[in-house]
Amino acid sequence: MSLELSAPAQSAPACADDGVWLECIECGEQFAPFEDIRYTCDECDGLLEVRYDDPPTFDEFEGRGVWRYNAGLPFEVGVTLPEGNTPLHEMPRLREDIGLKRLRVKHEGMNPTGSFKDRGMTVGVRVAKELGVGRLACASTGNTSAALAAYGARGGMETLVLLPSGKVAAGKIAQASLHNARILEVDGNFDSCLDIVQDLAAKGEVYLLNSLNPFRLEGQKTIGFEILEEHYEDYGEYPDRIILPVGNAGNTSALYKAFRELVQSGALDESEVPKLTGVQAEGAAPMVEAVRNGNDEVRRWDEVETIATAIRIGNPVNAPKALPGIRNTGGTAISVSDEEITAAQRDLAAEGVGVEPASAASVAGLRKLRETGEVGADESVVCLTTGHLLKDPDAAFAAGGDPEPVPNDTEAVLEHINAGSSPFGRLSQQVSKAADSPLLPALVGGGLAVGYLGYRKLRSKLE
Ligand code: F0G
Repeated sequence: MSLELSAPAQSAPACADDGVWLECIECGEQFAPFEDIRYTCDECDGLLEVRYDDPPTFDEFEGRGVWRYNAGLPFEVGVTLPEGNTPLHEMPRLREDIGLKRLRVKHEGMNPTGSFKDRGMTVGVRVAKELGVGRLACASTGNTSAALAAYGARGGMETLVLLPSGKVAAGKIAQASLHNARILEVDGNFDSCLDIVQDLAAKGEVYLLNSLNPFRLEGQKTIGFEILEEHYEDYGEYPDRIILPVGNAGNTSALYKAFRELVQSGALDESEVPKLTGVQAEGAAPMVEAVRNGNDEVRRWDEVETIATAIRIGNPVNAPKALPGIRNTGGTAISVSDEEITAAQRDLAAEGVGVEPASAASVAGLRKLRETGEVGADESVVCLTTGHLLKDPDAAFAAGGDPEPVPNDTEAVLEHINAGSSPFGRLSQQVSKAADSPLLPALVGGGLAVGYLGYRKLRSKLE
């Protein structure tokens, strides 16, 4: 099977360009990489993968960011802002609380447009230039569109993005808008947007830069290279497990590919490969369903909903690449509730790391897997946080405390500060959580009364 962890490196076929070619993961058909535009196999419609006759070793990596890893990429350099080289935060309090030997958080929200998508776009837009295409396009839950708009603008190319109407966080639309993408809002979910953009690509109207495009995943592989290098530098060993949020399962596929290539080149032993562990929101968890039930196929969920709009996806197109990744590394998958996601977002924020909800899913999943014992206390774990807090300011504001109005007077401000933290701030969080409840008016009324009484009590204590 071509996606085995230990599959040996191949020699370049006649169609290869400088040792690089495309290969179907289903039927093995091989294609020239930059002659024609194709996203899937001409023969069987299977997913394509970029292959190299000379997979990379750690010794070949030099420089910083994504292009440090060009020994494992199809070009020396791309359209760059630049991207990669993101922090691998230590989280001592969270580690202690969850009960783990080691915990690091790889914050991909620190990329130029605030998500890991930049790593894929720096390569994808470079390939688009090689192919000489005109208009770039993607379907997106938001981050891909922001990255495409920025990298398209950098490359001087026209961009078009299809978004599910009303389901994209404000920061992401603002980015796509300012970087001058044409934004088409579709009355449907992400999966319908992807269906449409695939049709447009098949008609030759646009060049598709979703993760179905195998070159995007080449850039995203560098997350895996970076984690392994930095972890090894700090501890003299690789992490036992990498936990990441899953939507289309592009990142899961990309990380697995990074590990396979290092195993192929002999740079990494099969026993050293981290267990890939995927996390989805309960309302959009088709991959988790497949992993937990041992299915080879993933069932498309037509109805999806979650606060983590970035991963509000019912048809993970990269599942045929990602499922072997999870299984062959001994990983697993788990779903988490929106409440667990918000709690994890607060946990990260409490240690200074600001992420959007989808990103916090990795930490929520870790906590749950520790509770069930599927992750042991003796493990070294890296959680991937995929997008920045400012991507979704509404979610951040809902999860955080409220501003407190104070008079324009120092003494009054001091008095307010000494009266303690705002009971109204905490109250508004409780009310927003209960917003769907038919008891809302009673809760608001009762809550206000309780809040006010608490406030009076505090004040009278101080006076
Ligand atoms: N986290 C964030 C913040 C994302 O934006 C996405 C995907 C994922 C996780 C899931 O990654 O698809 O590789 O499994 N966002 C895409 C978008 C779908 O359009 O921005 P995946």
